[in-house]
Amino acid sequence: MKILLLGKTGQVGGALTPLLRQLAGSAADEAVVTLGRADVDLSDAAALAQAVQRAQPSLIVNAAAHTAVDRAETESEVAFAINAVAPGVLAAQAAKLNALLVHYSTDYVFDGSQRTPYRESDPTHPLGVYGESKLAGEQMVQASGCRHLLLRTSWVYDSTGRNFLTTMLRLAKQHGKLRVVGDQHGSPTSAAMIAEASLQLIRSMLNQPAMQGGLYHLTAQGQTTWHGFAQAIMRKAGLDVPIEAITTADYPTPAKRPAYSVLDSSKLQREFNYRLPDWQQALDALPALSSQQAA
Ligand SMILES: NC(=O)c1ccc[n+]([C@@H]2O[C@H](COP(=O)([O-])OP(=O)(O)OC[C@H]3O[C@@H](n4cnc5c(N)ncnc54)[C@H](OP(=O)(O)O)[C@@H]3O)[C@@H](O)[C@H]2O)c1
Repeated sequence: MKILLLGKTGQVGGALTPLLRQLAGSAADEAVVTLGRADVDLSDAAALAQAVQRAQPSLIVNAAAHTAVDRAETESEVAFAINAVAPGVLAAQAAKLNALLVHYSTDYVFDGSQRTPYRESDPTHPLGVYGESKLAGEQMVQASGCRHLLLRTSWVYDSTGRNFLTTMLRLAKQHGKLRVVGDQHGSPTSAAMIAEASLQLIRSMLNQPAMQGGLYHLTAQGQTTWHGFAQAIMRKAGLDVPIEAITTADYPTPAKRPAYSVLDSSKLQREFNYRLPDWQQALDALPALSSQQAA
């Protein structure tokens, strides 16, 4: 089995790499091709198609994306090239090769006006360019006819790299106190959890050729705010810093974000018989945190 992973340097891509090597089995080094931006730029559609043709995979996992939500507002063309055109290229190649495509999307396809967890069937209405470009990517994958898993996740973090968790540790270390938005609600989801769940879903799809796949919400269970998440991070790191809850209006950003983007992941749990952990359990499962991990 030949596996192609895009986005090897990202949070989810990094967590997926060892798991995909496990999946590939003994001839792992030859069987898993992992690519980063230096190997192929996703904004170059022709180069991307060639990279897939060279690898001839039976499984393509796309963990690469333009994830800079604020920067996307002024880089719309690049964001669409990476988040919409590139998944379309991968999906067309997957259809040609009869390969399974795993692609990730986001809670930011919703506008946040609901107050109950969003289901896959709920109407989308992104508030910014990032969400618009990711939604366009979903549509490209769905239109291609390739066998796929389209996995919407949310508030992704890891214990290393640059993300909300490591940023909070850095700011706590620098300032000894934090001010964090307390009126946006969502489900923090660790890259490790996404990778582990993805692996199980992929195994099910490979073992059961009749399974169609499709669009699924994949997040940790439960919900909090960025403020609540920051409190939990500080507790886990053993840091006692005051954390003031501020409003979205107190912290203006170029991109508008949904006030509520909790996703209902029950379809995935039911169809794949897979239990997703609570967000606090997943945070607890990370190795010990220290302010050394600050980014
Ligand atoms: N982060 C979140 O909070 C969040 C929330 C919901 C959904 N998601 C989705 O989950 C998936 C994984 O996200 P993540 O947090 O793991 O992303 P990430 O850590 O930001 O990593 C993104 C990856 O994409 C690569 N990339 C970006 N532009 C590229 C280009 N032009 N050519 C080639 N590679 C490029 C990056 O390479 P470099 O390292 O070279 O930049 C990196 O490997 C994405 O589909 C994302 O939209 C993320």
